[in-house]
Amino acid sequence: MIFETHSHYDDPAYDEDRDLLLSHMKENGIGNIICAGAAWDSIPLMLKICDTYPFCHLALGIHPDNSADLTPEHRPELEALIASKKPCAIGEIGLDYHYDDVPPEVQREGFIYQLKLAERFDLPVIIHSRDAAEETFDVIKENLPSKRGVIHCFSSSLEMAEEYIKLGFLIGIGGVVTFKNGRKLKEVAQNIPLTSILLETDCPYLAPVPHRGERNSSLYIPLIADEIASLRGISADEVIAVTESNAKKLFNIE
Ligand code: NI
Repeated sequence: MIFETHSHYDDPAYDEDRDLLLSHMKENGIGNIICAGAAWDSIPLMLKICDTYPFCHLALGIHPDNSADLTPEHRPELEALIASKKPCAIGEIGLDYHYDDVPPEVQREGFIYQLKLAERFDLPVIIHSRDAAEETFDVIKENLPSKRGVIHCFSSSLEMAEEYIKLGFLIGIGGVVTFKNGRKLKEVAQNIPLTSILLETDCPYLAPVPHRGERNSSLYIPLIADEIASLRGISADEVIAVTESNAKKLFNIE
């Protein structure tokens, strides 16, 4: 079954029909879903979703855009939550230099702090990196001895993907691979080993073609699997089976 490795079902975009949507995942071939942490205030709803739906797996972390959430008061609370809730990963964490709202040094400090949490709790990481490819790579290399994780919504070059794979990382591929202007990602999806790929949506964002611009959900993952399959000249079933096994191994989920 499909393993969706990156979603945000705590987003207000699902307030009207969250339960209806999640209750139809299994019958549509979605076996597991990772709910990626992003903001401090959304953690209670994420916990509720993951408690209600056993196939939804919690990842805890603060997105670089929300670095301000990592206050001295929140840090021990976050650590206590990781210890008690046993998330399957720390994430999403990283660097985002697309907008200049959060100073780079603040982002970097929060990123390194959370990489060290992953080491301490022996968990893989889910990495968000936007317009910061080289620096993200260097920070991970220096601060994460275990080198276990995924570069989510990969948006860099094939060469960079190969560097991350050499380091021990997997590459998350989502709806952008179906975009007409997604040529760089198509090249990545076609050429890296299938054993290095994870399927993801980053929903509610980045819906694949022909739903581009609409609200995304894990139900559209088959469109992503189809595109990767056709790029590689293999069946979508093979893409789904191998990426599911990749995800189960990385996140330690049976
Ligand atoms: Ni995300």
